[in-house]
Amino acid sequence: MCGIVGYIGHRDAFPIIIKGLQRLEYRGYDSAGIALFDGSQINLVKTKGKVEDLKQKANSISQEGSIGIGHTRWATHGVPNDVNSHPHYSNSGDLVIIHNGIIENYESIKKELTKRGYTFASDTDTEVLVNLIEEVKKTEDVKLGQAVQIALNQVVGAYAIAVFDRRKPDEIVVAKLGSPLAIGIGENEFFIASDASPFIEFTNNAVYLEDEEMAIVRLGKEIKLRKIKNDAVAYPRILELQMNLEEIEKGGYDHFMLKEIYEQPRAIKDTYRGRLLADQGIIRMAGIDQNLEKFMNANRIIIVACGTSWHAGLVAEYIFEDLARIPVEVEYASEFRYRNPVITEKDVLIAISQSGETADTLAAIKLAKEKGAFVFGVCNVVGSSIARESDAGAYTHAGPEIGVASTKAFTTQITVLTLLALKLAKEKGTFSETKFHEFLTELETIPNKVEKALEANPLIEIISDVYKDSSNCLYLGRGYNFPVALEGALKLKEISYIHAEGYPAAEMKHGPIALIDEQMPVFVIATKKGHYEKVVSNIQEIKSRKGKIIAIVTEGDEQVKELADHVIEVPETLESLSPLLTTIPLQLLSYHIAVMRGCNVDQPRNLAKSVTVE
Ligand code: F6R
Repeated sequence: MCGIVGYIGHRDAFPIIIKGLQRLEYRGYDSAGIALFDGSQINLVKTKGKVEDLKQKANSISQEGSIGIGHTRWATHGVPNDVNSHPHYSNSGDLVIIHNGIIENYESIKKELTKRGYTFASDTDTEVLVNLIEEVKKTEDVKLGQAVQIALNQVVGAYAIAVFDRRKPDEIVVAKLGSPLAIGIGENEFFIASDASPFIEFTNNAVYLEDEEMAIVRLGKEIKLRKIKNDAVAYPRILELQMNLEEIEKGGYDHFMLKEIYEQPRAIKDTYRGRLLADQGIIRMAGIDQNLEKFMNANRIIIVACGTSWHAGLVAEYIFEDLARIPVEVEYASEFRYRNPVITEKDVLIAISQSGETADTLAAIKLAKEKGAFVFGVCNVVGSSIARESDAGAYTHAGPEIGVASTKAFTTQITVLTLLALKLAKEKGTFSETKFHEFLTELETIPNKVEKALEANPLIEIISDVYKDSSNCLYLGRGYNFPVALEGALKLKEISYIHAEGYPAAEMKHGPIALIDEQMPVFVIATKKGHYEKVVSNIQEIKSRKGKIIAIVTEGDEQVKELADHVIEVPETLESLSPLLTTIPLQLLSYHIAVMRGCNVDQPRNLAKSVTVE
């Protein structure tokens, strides 16, 4: 999704904005641009391509100035090209804007503005918006802040915008609805960005705008917030951020994805730290403790999410039903929100999202709240829209996830959901004290076992080399490891562009078995606990059709070794915790195959880290 960065203060804006845009590259984009005010004029440059291309192209303009805005664009209206890239000027050349989101009624506004003599260089909705602001400013004779407010009341859609006026270069006006916008507050300087990563090295103090809020950041003045709809003053909620610079840099790894795969032992531990007190037999989570009744009285739990987070939801379905005996439905947020679902006050909705900004998941939450359901958010990004919109929640403590392909977010989401299921199992008495205790003790061993699973990396690299040129792959698993098969397939297709399908192993014979021949690699999760013998039978079926078998097995397994072309071992654990281990080799396989195929692992084509449009 688009990334926005802005700066106003006493430093050179150019390097801050360029570095900020690079930090937002993980969001996915196809073009980039920057506008700076050098004291007399705006210097603007933009290009299709990467921030690096923008940096080169920016050698042709003056890079001076301590106010500026920059943008990475993920095309919605208008193809990715130089002209459609942001920032966009208004017709007079006085105003300049960057925008993340979609203005849905831009066609009708454009028609109206065209009648009044406005012309448009690009195909974008953003250029329409900046001219609408200009028109309002002119006709109503108001200041920029008011003009932005009036204009935004005429548009339908989603936005995070930053706009400034060449004739008043001591302020930037920002506003948000649907797309994220954070303001970093320094000493007589302000930073604007889609998330805090562009400014974390300058300040830990930030304000996250709520939907339908706008702010005027003016040099020498305190930040001013107000509602877009009704002029009411909103009070800046200044957060102190915990994130540090090291966490958002690669730290010696070739890619963020690899760094994040290797961070999982730490991330899982951080996620249960302080919540899991195994020696006392306690799970303590404020978001649940304060709302236990809601869960205890729930008729069912509905889980909504997208992509990898949806897969974590599927694992959670097994855990909740198995341990706590609560009926669970797992829904794609995008389907749930539009299918007139039956939701009652006796339902609990759990929304899972790494970014906390996914538009469909956010909309599903709003719908569930309207119907009176209690909403519990499981997010990674602190202060994100989903975290704020939920009635209660629990953060995963994975740390910033920069690689577009989700890795540590998945395993930490499963960790949080496991804690929640265990807590409810204990409260409901569906789990004996002894089993509960054993479970907690085993959960504490998982970070070390993930370390152990990571030791297979050299072997996985060799196996990846064998299968890197495949055109299709099949992933199979059963029970708790069926969602892991789906996740393994998603990881491979999104970063290596190899077509891959995940299936419950037993479903293979209802269709996919027709695909199996000597060209087809089949990745099978065949760990000892669960439905081992049944999966072994499925492996036999693949073998007799000459498929290539790569099996994820429990340490010391001999039976599958006899049948498979390759085996990758993971340590033994409880079946319900096994996804935390079996997912590791599949992440590494996708990573190596994508690297070997020369793919852009951290920013795969067409993908965005934070999907803020539906
Ligand atoms: C896949 C991936 C996506 C996200 C999905 C939801 O690796 O990252 O499928 O899981 O876009 O994003 P969040 O979790 O931010 O709501």
